[in-house]
Amino acid sequence: MKVYLETYGCQMNEYDSELVRSILTSHKHEFTPSLDHAEVVLLNTCAIREHAHEKIFYLLDHLKGRKRRQKGLVVGVLGCMAQSLRKEIIERAPHVDIVAGPDSYKRLPMLIEATRHHTEQAFDFSLSEFETYSDIAPQRVPGVNAWIAIMRGCDNFCTFCVVPYTRGRERSRELANIVLEAERVASEGFRQITLLGQNVNSYRNDEYDFADLMQAVSEVSGIARVRFTSPHPKDFPRKLLHAMAANPKLCKHIHLPLQAGSDGVLERMKRTYTRKEFLALVAEIRALMPEVSLTTDLICGFCGETDADFEQTLEVVREVGFDSAFTFKYSERKNTMASRQFPDDVPEEVKQERLLRLAELQKEITHERNVAELGKVYEVLVETPSKKDGNQWLGRTDHFKPVVFSGNVQAGDLVKVRIEAHGANTLMGAMVRDYRRTLRVYQEACCV
Ligand code: SAH
Ligand code: SF4
Ligand code: F3S
Repeated sequence: MKVYLETYGCQMNEYDSELVRSILTSHKHEFTPSLDHAEVVLLNTCAIREHAHEKIFYLLDHLKGRKRRQKGLVVGVLGCMAQSLRKEIIERAPHVDIVAGPDSYKRLPMLIEATRHHTEQAFDFSLSEFETYSDIAPQRVPGVNAWIAIMRGCDNFCTFCVVPYTRGRERSRELANIVLEAERVASEGFRQITLLGQNVNSYRNDEYDFADLMQAVSEVSGIARVRFTSPHPKDFPRKLLHAMAANPKLCKHIHLPLQAGSDGVLERMKRTYTRKEFLALVAEIRALMPEVSLTTDLICGFCGETDADFEQTLEVVREVGFDSAFTFKYSERKNTMASRQFPDDVPEEVKQERLLRLAELQKEITHERNVAELGKVYEVLVETPSKKDGNQWLGRTDHFKPVVFSGNVQAGDLVKVRIEAHGANTLMGAMVRDYRRTLRVYQEACCV
């Protein structure tokens, strides 16, 4: 059948969609980029905030009319929302044929088959303690970066977060199996690998930890850069910091989610670090890697957050000077500890105002940091033609900063670019001739 698959949420979901592609293709289904031509429509959903749900219910409503017109159309909801809101989906959208959680994708061909022949609904939301999809080769869209999930699930149970309920218990893949996947993506032409986990610090495979894994992946030939997301500030491995400082293939960028700056809020969130500990970690990271770029996630309006608490978040954000930040209003999630223990008592307009203040402050800091980049020369990994101007290219520095420039290059090239201007979130520059490289080519030519 012709399958249309749309993905919402985080990189882990993007990776899962690549697994789904692989699983369904090996069962003779084919994928179409056109919703209009699809015989099976699959939505791989996210449950992290309320907003994510509303979008899906809106789409499902739309698909109801389409199902009336197109006999036999199969509609499926996959992913985190399918796992956490299965009852609501079945009640609010009874026309949905398939509901399958993140650990049920190997059974998707069977679920599709069941709806075809028996015209009945097919559900599967069993969470597994073991499923890591290690035996599936994800079907990736060709490009420069390949995601590799190194573990699944999360055991941290931060009180605001739904992920431990949608993705179940934490389990790591075997190091050797991940390195095999890295070798495969390198042979397919990918130049960068981003290792994914909800808390990569707790990666374990026998005697190997996350720093060992990063090191092993960086040794795969053809791979120029290795990134990872996300570590948890509570147990950031010092061994990893030292490996990052010493190994040029390990990118000098850390996404370090702070969430909030007040100890009271951090405790209610069960983040298990204090403001002081977070700041000490930042100081340690910068002492080892002065050029590192730090990005973060911030939540405002969490249960019981006072004006004074929020001021402390602003203070920490100012003190650290993150290169960029994702900012969110707290959104109560069903089943989470916060929803059971604390009232969601910060009024919506206060949340909104705090969100604006946070975003405003971060904008100022990002601006200052962008100004400081002017004149510097960076090695840039070329990714795609720029969306705004097809004659220009978009690439990223080692620090994950997007850079737009023009030149006779192709995706996957590593080039030197001098930063000459900046926008709100993007740097602009000009390619620099690499004299050492030119000299080397010249010398080689002489020898011939
Ligand atoms: N595992 C990652 C987080 C994944 S969720 C980590 O621990 O870093 C990505 C971000 O969404 C979180 O860092 C948090 O800032 C935000 N988030 C999670 N639950 C939320 C909620 N209930 N309301 C608002 N933001 C939330
Ligand atoms: Fe959610 Fe916390 Fe796990 Fe991140 S570490 S996925 S925020 S429970
Ligand atoms: Fe990712 Fe959303 Fe699930 S952020 S882990 S897809 S809840």
